[in-house]
Amino acid sequence: MSEAGMVWIDGQRAVDPRVSIYDRGFLYGDSVFEVIRTYGGKPFGLGEHVARLHRSAAKISIELSWTEAELEAEIRSALRDAGFAESYIRVIVTRGVGALGLDPDLADEPTRVLMIHPLTLPPLPVYRDGVGVYVVDSIRATDGTSAEGAKASNYLANLLALRDAKRHGAYEPVFIDHTNGEVLEGGTSNVFAVFGDTLVTPPERRILGGITRKHVLAAASGLQVRVEPITLERFRSADELFLTSTIREVVPIVRVVEPSGEHTVGKGVPGPHTRAIHRAFRAHVGAPTHPMPWEQPS
Ligand SMILES: Cc1ncc(COP(=O)(O)O)c(C=O)c1O
Repeated sequence: MSEAGMVWIDGQRAVDPRVSIYDRGFLYGDSVFEVIRTYGGKPFGLGEHVARLHRSAAKISIELSWTEAELEAEIRSALRDAGFAESYIRVIVTRGVGALGLDPDLADEPTRVLMIHPLTLPPLPVYRDGVGVYVVDSIRATDGTSAEGAKASNYLANLLALRDAKRHGAYEPVFIDHTNGEVLEGGTSNVFAVFGDTLVTPPERRILGGITRKHVLAAASGLQVRVEPITLERFRSADELFLTSTIREVVPIVRVVEPSGEHTVGKGVPGPHTRAIHRAFRAHVGAPTHPMPWEQPS
């Protein structure tokens, strides 16, 4: 991420941004966050992201002293001040500063951090050639807790899974529910499978309800859409696979890497439905569809 970002803390521009070491976000990862991007300078799905941030905070009992409308207005105003052509926006809300101790009641007011950076996108080969995913059992801090489905900041399991994925030559980990062998989601993404003319994605259980996922489901046309569990066995036999996230949109998956071996997805190249869905998604969000990310010159 570029150093040229701008930061606001509790609504104030911070030229030299710092938070207290007694902030529970630092001490315990006791916080929630959102990542938003702009298209044509305008934040996409701002209302949905802010609503999810508020839901995430509620799920882990962080009480917010501002409304969704106030936070939206703050983000829009900061974006205008930042003035980047396209922006990456990160909003972090921690439970706040408090005396040492695990008890959440020790915290005072939530800390709100807004970071805006120029948007940088994945390199061309990610889209042109597709990527490998590495399959890992999901044993995450929030699994089975009230924080399930919240975008809580404790990503330790996700980042360790990403490290393992990279060590196995893969781009992204994909979590499997170890209790039933069902595919859940990527380290920072949702996953989709295409079987013939049917598009399938796992239900919102033990996963983050991705905003890109929702818009991909809305934009996909000409395919039957099913939201249902996918076993790992079925996942690896799909004709096409792809992952979705706010910054990356739609990324084709062409290899499924497991400790026991590697599977090629379909013909081992990004499939026609994945391409069509990515195009439909960009049209849906009002982004240019010529050239597409896999067509950009390197
Ligand atoms: C665990 C997880 N699942 C899914 C997603 C995709 O969500 P969205 O499309 O809202 O970016 C993310 C994004 O960071 C994530 O961290």
